[in-house]
Amino acid sequence: MDKFRIQGGGPLEGQVRISGAKNAALPLLCASLLTEKSLVLENVPSLRDISTTAHLLAQMGVEVSGNAGLIELKASRVHDCVAPYDLVKTMRASILVLGPLVARFGEARVSLPGGCAIGSRPVDLHLKGLQLMGAKISIEHGDIHARAEKLKGARIFMDLVSVTGTENLMMAATLAQGVTVIENAAREPEVVDLAEALMKMGAHIEGAGTDVITIQGVDSLEGCRHAIMPDRIETGTFLVAVAATGGKVLLTHTKAGLLDAVIDKLKEAGAVLSLGSDTIEIVQDGRPKAVNIRTAPYPAFPTDMQAQFMAMNTVAQGSALITETIFENRFMHVQELRRLGARIDIEGNTAMVHGCAQLQGATLMATDLRASASLLMAALVASGESIIERIYHIDRGYEDIEHKFAGLGAKIERIPG
Ligand code: EPZ
Repeated sequence: MDKFRIQGGGPLEGQVRISGAKNAALPLLCASLLTEKSLVLENVPSLRDISTTAHLLAQMGVEVSGNAGLIELKASRVHDCVAPYDLVKTMRASILVLGPLVARFGEARVSLPGGCAIGSRPVDLHLKGLQLMGAKISIEHGDIHARAEKLKGARIFMDLVSVTGTENLMMAATLAQGVTVIENAAREPEVVDLAEALMKMGAHIEGAGTDVITIQGVDSLEGCRHAIMPDRIETGTFLVAVAATGGKVLLTHTKAGLLDAVIDKLKEAGAVLSLGSDTIEIVQDGRPKAVNIRTAPYPAFPTDMQAQFMAMNTVAQGSALITETIFENRFMHVQELRRLGARIDIEGNTAMVHGCAQLQGATLMATDLRASASLLMAALVASGESIIERIYHIDRGYEDIEHKFAGLGAKIERIPG
């Protein structure tokens, strides 16, 4: 398994291009199942999760061509409405094929995603919504077996705000008979990006980006060409890295309006930000100030940025509280940060981080995607050498991360394992 070797110290300086959003690309790839016409996606990031999804769709019979950058998909000869365990176990977001398969083909067999490092992550809300739309659902030998003559529009209240739950049901509703209203819907920008592509395909959707989304079903959808939105979590990750290490960096091909809550916290930490139409410049002189964080659904502070801010707080001036309200086990990075000398006390879903002037390099183990990013950031700040093991976690969601950081002056190299 590959590792990263990192020499800590030194500010980050220069310019970095932000890639397309992983969490917009994944549902958009699955949306190809909703039509027999060609769906062309631009600005697709080169990530493991993207290739896993492309492989899953190809196994079903979707014609998939191209790769990073531009992917064309055509689901005119789907022969297998199955998402097998060996693929789903590597990527929970495979559940996003369920809604489109039932809506277009009337049947789907999708392996029940297991939990993952950050939590049990059930999909009960996905299934409840499809049942309200008339699907018959049974769990057979670990698989979700869903069948429906024709889905019917329904009023669905989401007990919890669920990003992929909202996306799955919105996609299913585009081909249902009648009107579907999803209440307490997720408002994430990735939901909006998906809705915009679906509307280009002929879907009738209102309210995407608010907590009530109304979809009027149609008989069939066209293809379309769609450029994937910038990755707001990659954007936030690079911004926090500069806040932690100090320096001056210009981010390009991004969109500041996607991460207001993160930008507010960076300003509170003492960073100076200049926002352009598709750029963000950040300048950080000296150590950041510690900032309190409480994660919540968009537009509040994103859970996917929690680990990165914790890494920044470990070297900040002062102490701060970090409260994780979305996932029950998203503090896996704490033990690893402590190995660098970080002072963190955990009480339930809250961590008190006491900033210190200096961390020492150590060998670390990545446990999940965003935790890996926080370890990379902390290693950049620590004195001496750090090794990060199991970096396949980071390859799932960050395109070419070591070269992007090296381009900013970081001393980081991949050790093939
Ligand atoms: C999406 O996951 C993202 N993944 C996650 O990003 C992100 O952390 C999460 O939303 C929250 O923002 C993708 O978009 C591919 P949820 P998702 O359904 O949709 C509970 C990353 O790092 N819940 O919004 O799976 C769930 O357990 C990844 O890129 C149910 O109880 O998350 C959680 O506590 C990590 N039943 C809460 O809701 C359900 O049926 C929010 O989960 C669904 C969810």
